[in-house]
Amino acid sequence: MSLLLSSYTLSSPKGDLALQNRIVVAPMCQYSAVNGEAQDRHLMHWANLLNSGAGLFIIEATGVTLEGRITPACLGLWDDRTEAVLKDKLSRARKLAPKTPVFIQLAHAGRKASSATPWDGGQLLSKEQGGWETVAPSAIPQLKDERLPHELSKAELQDLIAAFVVAAQRSKRIGVDGIELHGAHGYLLHQFLSPIANQRTDEYGGSFGNRIRFPLELFAAVRKAYQGVLGIRISASDWIEGGWTPQETADFSSLLKPLGCDFVHIFSGGISPLQKIAIGPNYQVPFAKIVKEQSGLPTMTVGLITEPQQAENILQKGDADLIALARAFLYKPRWAWEAAAVLGATVPSNERYWRCLPREAQAIFGDVKVWQR
Ligand SMILES: Cc1cc2nc3c(=O)[nH]c(=O)nc-3n(C[C@H](O)[C@H](O)[C@H](O)COP(=O)(O)O)c2cc1C
Repeated sequence: MSLLLSSYTLSSPKGDLALQNRIVVAPMCQYSAVNGEAQDRHLMHWANLLNSGAGLFIIEATGVTLEGRITPACLGLWDDRTEAVLKDKLSRARKLAPKTPVFIQLAHAGRKASSATPWDGGQLLSKEQGGWETVAPSAIPQLKDERLPHELSKAELQDLIAAFVVAAQRSKRIGVDGIELHGAHGYLLHQFLSPIANQRTDEYGGSFGNRIRFPLELFAAVRKAYQGVLGIRISASDWIEGGWTPQETADFSSLLKPLGCDFVHIFSGGISPLQKIAIGPNYQVPFAKIVKEQSGLPTMTVGLITEPQQAENILQKGDADLIALARAFLYKPRWAWEAAAVLGATVPSNERYWRCLPREAQAIFGDVKVWQR
């Protein structure tokens, strides 16, 4: 019996959310928005990967403010217009796919905002290039020759919390089943957590308790405003001497639990170019394992997991509860179908594609005939 293809339940104040299997399409920026508004490319990407057989799909990093976008082409959810367009494109994509739960990743890039798209180099954009002033816990740039971000005042921290709360309310209206706050990749929340980026001398910087204060306050405010499934992606290690650590991640997660956190999604890195990442298959699984063991929270792992048996083994060992994949789904959009075929299970699918498989493998479509919503 495959654990990867077996169901899983995430709980929230609103109730339980059943996932048909434990495969998650990780959030993936499409850098295709115009003024933060979703485009047909998003509709295509979402509909395609909602037809992947995965049990959960997470929409890309979505800026809660204009200045919080990573690039000028990033998706946003900061006004009625971005909300209306996102709702329209998403509902159209969902009508073209089996009924799969969808989460949205709400983000603020902090000092890593105002950047070029990856294929244009990813560097900080000047005002002349369409960039804008960035903000951060401290006036420390990501790269030492970059212009300094503006150090956020306490009043501005409250404004940011309010922006996340309003974006969570908008998320509810667009009909997603859950929210993942982006606390990883060196973006704003990670910048508060990490002593590399956070060198404040007030109650939001310095000790562990002070560095986690803003992310905890923000999480609690969003939880109050949003009753669906709510979790957070965290970079478990800065991979740098004196940086944020896996033990701090586990302690932070344990403190999120009583605030009503429903899951954690464990990544690593992104705070500094000085990071030395020991990269390889499963390289972030040990981080998920300690967070899961110590916090008891439903835990998602991600990063260089490419093979069905590899994913199955992680679950069988109890190192994580859910397996997220990004690049593997870009390469093989029906990855979960292949996983079902390899592991002898069934997946939600579109009957128009059933003839893709040789007759002897068609059992993977078994009793699951979810097409019309
Ligand atoms: C094209 C692309 C866009 C991405 N965008 C996001 C994003 O919006 N938010 C995020 O947290 N991670 C993002 N990531 C990182 C992935 O979610 C994932 O964590 C990472 O690629 C490692 O998983 P993988 O080895 O399965 O690709 C992106 C990755 C790719 C390849």
